[in-house]
Amino acid sequence: LASIEVDLSKIAPGQAIKTMWRKQPVFIRNLTPKEIGEANAVPLSALRDPQTLADRTKEGHINWLITLGVCTHLGCVPLGAGEGEAKGDFGGYFCPCHGSHYDTAARVRKGPAPLNLQVPEYAFKSDTVVQIG
Ligand code: FES
Repeated sequence: LASIEVDLSKIAPGQAIKTMWRKQPVFIRNLTPKEIGEANAVPLSALRDPQTLADRTKEGHINWLITLGVCTHLGCVPLGAGEGEAKGDFGGYFCPCHGSHYDTAARVRKGPAPLNLQVPEYAFKSDTVVQIG
């Protein structure tokens, strides 16, 4: 199946971009130290779909959060990538279809979505290039 390579070098800390892979939107976010700290401060017991930020990123690259841009409720595309700023009550993404809020690790925190935004299969080819798929 098709994979894509993405150059991360132009994504500044605090920015998120949207790209396409297998006809689905993919969000790539360069987390700031503050956003990483916010994600790590949340106890797993507070999460509907308990995963740590480390579970959702690659070792040595915890600032790179790569997820599908597909809400786990009914599949709308959440806001917060490509518009220049995080969205929602938890500093990550917001799905306007029925009001699901995702945090800085793209974990669902509020609203009807049952699961965190899904992490696709990917690998770092270098410090600035990832291959998705
Ligand atoms: Fe996102 Fe319903 S599709 S909240």
